[in-house]
Amino acid sequence: MLLVAPSGEVRDLVLAAVTAQDLQAEVVAEPERLAGVWRSAGTVVVAAEVARRVADAAPPARPGVFLVGSDAVQLAAWSAPLSAGVIPLPDGAAWLGAVLADGRSRFSGPVVAVLGGSGGVGASTVAAALAQVGAERAEASALVDVDPLGGGLDLLLGAERVGGWRWPRLEAADGRLGDLRSYLPVVEGVTLVSMARGPAFDLSREPLAAMVGALRSWHSLVVLDVGRCGGSAAREALRLAGRQLVVVSASVRGVAAARQVVAEYELERAELVIRRGRGSLDSSLVAEAVGLPVLGEVPTDRRLADAAEAGEPPARGVRRGYRRAVDSLVQRLLAAVDD
Ligand SMILES: Nc1ncnc2c1ncn2[C@@H]1O[C@H](COP(=O)(O)OP(=O)(O)OP(=O)(O)O)[C@@H](O)[C@H]1O
Ligand SMILES: [Mg+2]
Repeated sequence: MLLVAPSGEVRDLVLAAVTAQDLQAEVVAEPERLAGVWRSAGTVVVAAEVARRVADAAPPARPGVFLVGSDAVQLAAWSAPLSAGVIPLPDGAAWLGAVLADGRSRFSGPVVAVLGGSGGVGASTVAAALAQVGAERAEASALVDVDPLGGGLDLLLGAERVGGWRWPRLEAADGRLGDLRSYLPVVEGVTLVSMARGPAFDLSREPLAAMVGALRSWHSLVVLDVGRCGGSAAREALRLAGRQLVVVSASVRGVAAARQVVAEYELERAELVIRRGRGSLDSSLVAEAVGLPVLGEVPTDRRLADAAEAGEPPARGVRRGYRRAVDSLVQRLLAAVDD
């Protein structure tokens, strides 16, 4: 990992975390000397006090960059120019460990955000099924719940009784988490970062960014269930995702709602997953009306609701048509990475 920081508090803190994890860090005090290492490092941590100088050096945009500092204004100002996740001090210190684990990166699989074009259209089901099929095809996949009012993805995957930490505990964790895998529930090969049931939990951007950064390094597919509540975590999820999928119902109202969602979130690079049913509109018509390309379609299958109630993962059992559709979505998502 690469640390860009002059001597001082941030440098000491990050180096302590690096040592605690038995990692190696290359330290650059002068942002003007970044050139080669900027690209090759697994993770780059930039002290906020030199963020302006790093931006002035204009290194190419890359994933896995994190800004660390205690000045919230400075962090906010330089996060976008550097495409960096933000770790505020002192609160975010616990997340340093998760971020640094990225230095051990084996994968850097696609991060896919799934958003419903209208309520109840099956976005969470698509998200869970993508992760489930991804875990079978790829080496490992992760599913992250970003919807505070979605009832928790645990129920959808039947993970209620599987031990492990959920968001509130993960966010509140103090100390360095290091390799988070040992804390997270795994269901059907899917590493699950779920909301807990109970009071709605206000997930903030920084832990989400850190979590996604860490998950990317151990999984070849990371799926984010964005939900429909909006908020800063939802926007951050969309920003972090290399692929944005909008599940749209192939109906007049479905299209109208999806158009609003696309406009509201400014989803210029999103792709559509069209939920089809009897009497559906043509997919080409839906694509044209929403103004986004189609990644694929999923059929309506009534058995999905029963499966969800029973906590049986969506891509298993008799729902073969649905399963096939999700298979081909995963194929297309992963194919782009191999190019
Ligand atoms: N392709 C499908 N065919 C039939 N039923 C489906 C399909 N996809 C999802 N469902 C069912 O529709 C209901 C809502 O699904 P889901 O929670 O995935 O939707 P959502 O878009 O995430 O909803 P929300 O807007 O609440 O986030 C569930 O009962 C689910 O089992
Ligand atoms: Mg949902």
